[in-house]
Amino acid sequence: MKQSEIQIVPMQQIHVPQVAELECQCFSDPWPEEILAGELKNPLSLWLVALQGQKVVGYIGSQSVMDEADMMNLAVHPDFRRLGIAAHLARTLMVQLLQGGVKTLCLEVRVSNASAIALYQKLGFTEVGRRPRYYFHPTEDALIFKKKLGEADENTGN
Ligand SMILES: CC(C)(COP(=O)(O)OP(=O)(O)OC[C@H]1O[C@@H](n2cnc3c(N)ncnc32)[C@H](O)[C@@H]1OP(=O)(O)O)[C@@H](O)C(=O)NCCC(=O)NCCS
Repeated sequence: MKQSEIQIVPMQQIHVPQVAELECQCFSDPWPEEILAGELKNPLSLWLVALQGQKVVGYIGSQSVMDEADMMNLAVHPDFRRLGIAAHLARTLMVQLLQGGVKTLCLEVRVSNASAIALYQKLGFTEVGRRPRYYFHPTEDALIFKKKLGEADENTGN
């Protein structure tokens, strides 16, 4: 599959059931469909989906307050991993947030989630802290990562 076959577009209501299904597939504490649909009405939220045709193969969501945003959800369908889709989603989100005046992007990740941590490091995020017992099912600490938008990398693919 080529990157060019994947289209990144803003999430719309029609995508929500597929995103909710991916949440269940990818997370032990998935966001329900109603909450995801509510994000579409939240002016502080920005959600993007990666489409192959009509199929949602990945998504990313963020909420911004003033010039800081928090990346809340990022997942890629298990059959579509290691193709650069998460990196593409994250870079597109960062460019759009930057255009909207956001200066920093933060996120939390499970300490055991080596693949996501490798992704965030590749995208230029820096570990800035830890939240003890932040996650449930199973209980686990979160690492906090942060990135100043506009600095090297979200456009370059390096
Ligand atoms: C983490 C996740 C989103 C990555 O999606 P992806 O589309 O496969 O990631 P990409 O192909 O864009 O990977 C980009 C880089 O991230 C790193 N990476 C991604 N998956 C990796 C893995 N399994 N092992 C090691 N590094 C990995 C690599 O540096 C990779 O670059 P490379 O392929 O050139 O080596 C995906 O594995 C997923 O959906 N996991 C379950 C949900 C989840 O944990 N979300 C994050 C919550 S904080």
